[in-house]
Amino acid sequence: MSDLSNRGSFATRLGFVMAAAGSAVGLGNIWKFPYITGEYGGGAFVLVYLLCIALVGLPLMYAELIIGRRGGKDILSSLLALTKDSGPLGTAASWVIGGMAVASGFLILSFYSVVAGWALSFFAAYAGLLPLQGGEQMFNALVSSKTSIPWHTVFMLLSVGVVTLGVHKGIETACKILMPALFVILVILLGYVAVEGGLAESARFLFAPDFHKLTGEAVLEALGHAFFTLSLGMGAMVTYGSYLPDEGAVVRDGVVVALLDTVIALMAGLVIFAVVFSHGGTPGAGPGLVFVSLPSLFATMPGGQLFGLAFFALLVFAAWSSAISLLEVVVAFLVDKVGMDRRVAALGAGLAIWALGLLSATDIDWLGRFDDLTTNYMLPLGGLGIALAAGWLVSKTDREAGFRVLGPLGEPLAAAWTFTIRFVTPLLVGLVILSKIGVFSAEEPPAPPAEVDEASPVDTDEDP
Ligand code: PFF
Repeated sequence: MSDLSNRGSFATRLGFVMAAAGSAVGLGNIWKFPYITGEYGGGAFVLVYLLCIALVGLPLMYAELIIGRRGGKDILSSLLALTKDSGPLGTAASWVIGGMAVASGFLILSFYSVVAGWALSFFAAYAGLLPLQGGEQMFNALVSSKTSIPWHTVFMLLSVGVVTLGVHKGIETACKILMPALFVILVILLGYVAVEGGLAESARFLFAPDFHKLTGEAVLEALGHAFFTLSLGMGAMVTYGSYLPDEGAVVRDGVVVALLDTVIALMAGLVIFAVVFSHGGTPGAGPGLVFVSLPSLFATMPGGQLFGLAFFALLVFAAWSSAISLLEVVVAFLVDKVGMDRRVAALGAGLAIWALGLLSATDIDWLGRFDDLTTNYMLPLGGLGIALAAGWLVSKTDREAGFRVLGPLGEPLAAAWTFTIRFVTPLLVGLVILSKIGVFSAEEPPAPPAEVDEASPVDTDEDP
């Protein structure tokens, strides 16, 4: 195993959990999960999403963490090291999976930073640094002109800044502040809606399943989102796993991270739908739910400006700790595989990603295309590759290392995991990919929800 000392590592397991949860909890939880849940009708969709987290998310989370921990380097180098005994197939698979993972990090961060920039600009408006206008007006200004470029720039600078400082001083420290702060804000917002009203209706919407509303498309969306929200399929967890101080925690910490991510998504959903229901909004408002509908509702609420300030701080914190993990996938590759200096790598990658992000910042159609390409195709394909590599190409010693430390429970758990990652995960993910490319399109249920656009989660046409 490689020497961790000169590439940095997390100082403590808590630091690791905060960083990995920071990666998982992001725009996916607070912006995307509520609006897709709203579009697909609530409870039944949430149930399928939870199943996807358990059946596909958790096994893959372990696979990624153990590959990183045992490989000790960026995703490509780790895979190359762990599949050495599998000959040319292992090498070829490592290059395909690793190459696509680094490309995914690059592409996702380019548009992620633009959406985070919108959140930053709303935060500035609620903080009184900009004139506070109606949500629709502010959102339209951001997406229809070059207004979002400075915000995208500031957000990229914030992310590059943290990554430049390194794994312990930068990423771990930032996440140990951002994650607790985020949680406290969320609890306060939940307390507010509990007093103000709407919470019961919101809980009913999220937790009472109505299976009539469940379409085939919703199931696909739920699985795709499980990847995105847990930061799986592109080596973020491999990279963070490579900075883990010890192996003993891989199983438990992986579960803790997935739980934290799920609980925070549900809490954010509860808050957002409580505001929507108690102030006459519509849950199926699409990608504009958080940026258009909510600000208009905040304006009618007592203490709405403070609520808005806290809400957009929450969104910015969540996005920031995720963005640094996206950047770190690319930077770890440049440092470990290419041999670059961390600072040069972070600045260079940041600049290139910022430049690509200008496309999404100036034309929302590009944002939709990048989101669609990465979330619906690259992450599931990457997840499929990682599952197959972990199940079939990595040695038993390496792949079961995290279970061996669990005592008598370790063996049956390792056997169950090996079966899942070899057969169940590839089958489910494979089916999703085949459906996405239209192989089963004739069997799609005929009545998808009204104005849902399957291909592009971000689409100006459906904004209210
Ligand atoms: N998990 C993040 C979110 O839910 O917003 C997004 C993300 C971060 C995806 C890091 C992939 C990744 F590697």
